[in-house]
Amino acid sequence: MSYYVGVDLGTGSIKIVLADESGEILGKESSDFSIISSQANYSEQNPEEWIKGFEQAFTRLLAKFPETSKCLKAISFSGQMHSLVLLDKNGMPIRSAILWNDTRTTEQVEKLKAEVGQRLLDVEKNIPLEGFTLPKILWVMKNDRVSWANTWKFMMPKDYLIYYLTGRICTERSDASGTIIYDIENHSWDARLLEMYGIKKDQCPEILKSTEIAGVFQGKVKEKFGLSNDVQVIMGGADNACGALGVIDDKETQGMLSVGTSGVVLCYSNRTDESIGNYHYFNSVIENQNYKMGVTLSAAYSLEWYKENFSTTEDFSELTNQAMNSTIGSNGMLFLPYLFGERSPYYNSNMSAEFIGIKSIHKKGDFIRSIMEGVAFSLRNVYERMKLINSDKKNKFRITGGVVNNSFWLQIFANVFNAEIEVLETDEGPALGALICAIYGVTDKDYNEIWNKFNRVRKIYKPQKETAQIYDSYFEKFKKISDKMNYENI
Ligand code: XUL
Repeated sequence: MSYYVGVDLGTGSIKIVLADESGEILGKESSDFSIISSQANYSEQNPEEWIKGFEQAFTRLLAKFPETSKCLKAISFSGQMHSLVLLDKNGMPIRSAILWNDTRTTEQVEKLKAEVGQRLLDVEKNIPLEGFTLPKILWVMKNDRVSWANTWKFMMPKDYLIYYLTGRICTERSDASGTIIYDIENHSWDARLLEMYGIKKDQCPEILKSTEIAGVFQGKVKEKFGLSNDVQVIMGGADNACGALGVIDDKETQGMLSVGTSGVVLCYSNRTDESIGNYHYFNSVIENQNYKMGVTLSAAYSLEWYKENFSTTEDFSELTNQAMNSTIGSNGMLFLPYLFGERSPYYNSNMSAEFIGIKSIHKKGDFIRSIMEGVAFSLRNVYERMKLINSDKKNKFRITGGVVNNSFWLQIFANVFNAEIEVLETDEGPALGALICAIYGVTDKDYNEIWNKFNRVRKIYKPQKETAQIYDSYFEKFKKISDKMNYENI
């Protein structure tokens, strides 16, 4: 029997999923960590916390499934994208990692737009954003010179875990894409940008493919976990790229909606058309397959924020029950989920969240339902403003993230998108994509054979015609007010 492990290094936790060679999920473990936010717009984590989290969760998994220490064949990783890790020449983190949701880099983004905006569209195929890695590097160069002067290598979070396990400094194409110093078509660092901004080629990690073997657990780590065989470490990919690998069955017709802390719309596509810049365009974990993506920053987090501040004693199912007593359109109340400003489609960190249209008739359930509807409207806004054409447009979505446990909210998504929304039996998110990379990286099995094990639909949520029509008009209102807020807060 051979075992495989998929690891997702998220922003709030690390999750480890164990499966056997038939693709049966045997168990999972996770470990939480927090964000350090020393001032407004700052979001950092200590990379050592990720290692600690991995060690704790992996140790618990080995204790529950002791055979793993003899039969583990391969492990692979997905991870939060864009976050910047800097290592000194001893391979130690120099400073806290600056995370993808840290927005201190507006000055650097403006500089990039002015100096290399067109090149970024031509080669990196993206516009610069605060969340991406290059602006973070430029920020460190300017504001933390000593750290940059001591930087031996930069990398992204999951690459740091791979370095800890194997001793090899490498990344892969899907995470390299999110740095915006990477030539999306030639799969290499962009030498001209590196030179312009004073980044040495040898400060960059080597770029592998997602299913390539980075190495094996190095001696001291192997010993620490009491593993008796050589465990192959397969690269894996960025969290959204792995998420898509673990949910999308038909690249032509299905898109992915991911509703976790942030919300993501992702559609596979290799078309670089005139609407480039309206979405992020990255290499996926599938060779020669790219994807287009938009991100709303506060999705399920909006509901968590509400619960934490106004309803601590009730659980999410109690909140949902109250929302069910409201009406389609929350009795006329609208929620704009811009708690962190907004990424797609406005790229405006000055926007803020709002409840609109509050009257004396409104009850708590209206507030809760308006949050659920507002998040769905926001993702529809992201999707529409991506301006996809032809086969890039999808008429079905597979959904993943915390929302899959809430059928009421899933039905709202089907009605707001006026599209079928499918939920899979296995919802392990990006960790499942990483697991698939681990299996695929070391077996000679056909990809479809592996994928078929996971491609089991639990439920399809179909749009209800009349409700979808009502939502269309509320969505127009949502768009108008959001556009106005964006315009007034530039
Ligand atoms: C994608 C992005 C987020 C992070 C979350 O561009 O910034 O989805 O990947 O981990």
